Amino acid sequence: MPTIVFASPKGGVGKSTAAVLLATELASHGGSVTMIDADPNRPLSQWASRPGKPQKLAVIATTTEESIIDTIEKAAQMTQFVIVDLEGTASMMAGYAMSRADLVIIPAQGSHLDATEAVKAIKLVKGQEKAFQKKIPFAILFTRTSAAIRPRTLQSIEAEFAQNRVPMFGCQIHEREAYRALFAFGGTLAGLDPEQVANLPAARLNAQMFAGEVIETLKASAPVKQRKEAV
Ligand SMILES: Nc1ncnc2c1ncn2[C@@H]1O[C@H](COP(=O)(O)OP(=O)(O)OP(=O)(O)O)[C@@H](O)[C@H]1O
Ligand SMILES: [Mg+2]
Repeated sequence: MPTIVFASPKGGVGKSTAAVLLATELASHGGSVTMIDADPNRPLSQWASRPGKPQKLAVIATTTEESIIDTIEKAAQMTQFVIVDLEGTASMMAGYAMSRADLVIIPAQGSHLDATEAVKAIKLVKGQEKAFQKKIPFAILFTRTSAAIRPRTLQSIEAEFAQNRVPMFGCQIHEREAYRALFAFGGTLAGLDPEQVANLPAARLNAQMFAGEVIETLKASAPVKQRKEAV
């Protein structure tokens, strides 16, 4: 079953946030999900320790590069989706996780610094494709963007990526208080109190659209046999 890896050597670009948004969306639609917390800071394990985690979503932690592949393979046999959240550094762990990915999502904020780091992540994907002699689909996910404006810098980065045929998600994860609240209170967006958290419906719609696009991307990049089975 599909393994989705969130990776970027840059810290704080929204990997863990986007990973939890995706996992909780998939679980709320009945999917069984294992999240692998491969970050020694354990952001996912902390989130999971708070109330409200969907039952169909399990979080397991792994620390060693030796164990990451086995952990992914075992989880892929147990649940419909495996989501791996990596630490914000370039590491062997990231390379190994990518080697088992059906999709690598590379979050980046709309700055040139982030774009440069995203390119490093793409190079790592390409290196793993060569090493493991397999195609590893990937896409950039712009995060923490404004829902209201599309700044010039972001536009120029998007244009540059498009020119170089770098795949990008059409959907972006906007800057939302609700996404911070998710980590403060635990659980899902549906479980947050609309009286306490601003713009919850917009945050939920954004997360739904992101999860929908991930599913579409997985379907489009699956081998033909798998695609037929999924129909
Ligand atoms: N879309 C968003 N809206 C609002 N806040 C966000 C959003 N994405 C991330 N943040 C906040 O930015 C900070 C970093 O986000 P996050 O932990 O998801 O990034 P990361 O890439 O996983 O970081 P690291 O590399 O340290 O693992 C957190 O405080 C998080 O709450
Ligand atoms: Mg993180």
